[in-house]
Amino acid sequence: MRGHEMVDWIADYWERVESLDVLSSDAPGAGLERLPETPPAKGEGDGAWDSIFEDLGRVSEPGLTHWQHPSFFGYFPCNASGPAVLGELLSAGRGIQGMLWQTSPIATELETRMLDWMRIALGLPERFASIGNGGGVIQGTASEATLVALLAARQRARAAGTADEKMVVYTSDQAHSSVIKAAMIAGVAQGTEDRTRVRLVATNARLELDMGALAEAMQRDVEAGLVPTFVSLTAGTTSTGAFDSIAAACDACAALEGHVPWVHVDGAWGGVAAICEEHRGWLDGIERADSVCVNPHKWLLTNFDCDLFCVADRAALVEAMSITPEYLRNAASDAGAVIAYRDWQVPLGRRFRALKLWFVLRHYGVEGLSACIREHCAWAAWLEERVLADDRFELGAKRSLSLVCLRLKAGEAATKRLMERVNATGQAFLTHTVVPTTAADGSTEARYVIRVAIGSTSTRLSHVEALWALLESHADAAGSGAMSGECDPGGVGSPS
Ligand SMILES: Cc1ncc(COP(=O)(O)O)c(C=O)c1O
Repeated sequence: MRGHEMVDWIADYWERVESLDVLSSDAPGAGLERLPETPPAKGEGDGAWDSIFEDLGRVSEPGLTHWQHPSFFGYFPCNASGPAVLGELLSAGRGIQGMLWQTSPIATELETRMLDWMRIALGLPERFASIGNGGGVIQGTASEATLVALLAARQRARAAGTADEKMVVYTSDQAHSSVIKAAMIAGVAQGTEDRTRVRLVATNARLELDMGALAEAMQRDVEAGLVPTFVSLTAGTTSTGAFDSIAAACDACAALEGHVPWVHVDGAWGGVAAICEEHRGWLDGIERADSVCVNPHKWLLTNFDCDLFCVADRAALVEAMSITPEYLRNAASDAGAVIAYRDWQVPLGRRFRALKLWFVLRHYGVEGLSACIREHCAWAAWLEERVLADDRFELGAKRSLSLVCLRLKAGEAATKRLMERVNATGQAFLTHTVVPTTAADGSTEARYVIRVAIGSTSTRLSHVEALWALLESHADAAGSGAMSGECDPGGVGSPS
């Protein structure tokens, strides 16, 4: 086999990725056309590897959008690093399946230690530490974290005598779609538009959850005989990076008579910034929240997938997820002496994901990771200044950390054309969102804005400067209605 060569290939890819177009130009089905319709009947063994390496270029490369390109500014970047990828490789190479403590004790215990390290690194309170009633676990994604938080909330409410059909879920109209999806999976919503027991609470001018509106919505439901069961706050919304106030939401929950809802904080992107002490303001009140998640796979140099999910009291979570058939029983688990992470997640099986986090933390340390986040925020501030200094541009929302939302004053169509023109160059990749904006006369309109999310591992200030040069150079033509005609960004333009 050619393992050493593959590692070299990956290292070379990281060196040359900057020279490639960021966005794939494959038309739908182009990848399928490059692949045979039937599987090989006979394997070629080691002889297959020459053509496999060739196909990495011929078959797969045209269909890649290069997430590790330094000029990838779309969605939220999904950053990787050498130590993380080696951890992933080791995890696959050792082939551990850590479903039970007994199936590899260190897979469980390293994960416990990594979550405790990260709790300290992020400044999360002790109630989320594994030594008490709480603790942390690695989920694949923030969507899974929100789902299991909702299932735990439902369990706690059931234990308090609440019937499922009385339970209500609250989040802001800026929250990620994964909250509604979790409600659909948990049976609280019948479909994406079902608002019978899902409340998308209004946001204020800063696009943060309006706490008065949350308190009113919950009170109305209590008066109607329903039970506020789950409140999902966002620490860094997907569109504009707004942070909901945890303290105010917990106050509103505590003021209710009867059952106190579970408060979950989705810090998928913005939450990891708490590794820098100056970005911990959003943690105010976190000591009263029930659960919180952050994604190192977005912004902490740890490749996908790696979501850290911490709960203050794991009892309801474990009760909601635990089932032990005879074939999984073992002495350590039966004695309650060990953590069984299978009871903290939907699947049974578990990859050894803690390895990559362990390598990242040892390689960069908390200081290295904080320095990286600080740099990204500083470059975003640099870009924000350029936007404010150019008469043709304006901010589409207040800058949040390393996320800059900008638009052309010439309007919606011009802004869209600008993004299309920049993406068509292949030199950078941007995505958009729609931001509700309140005018001076109180009227609101939904504005199309370009999101610039700085966070790729290889991005430097020079790449942000180059992006600004591109935006500047295409602004007049986009404003006057000229299309570049090279790219239809159709399905690629909204936040993930
Ligand atoms: C605030 C927020 N929550 C959840 C998600 C979904 O993330 P994941 O892919 O980890 O489920 C995103 C994705 O960008 C996000 O921004």
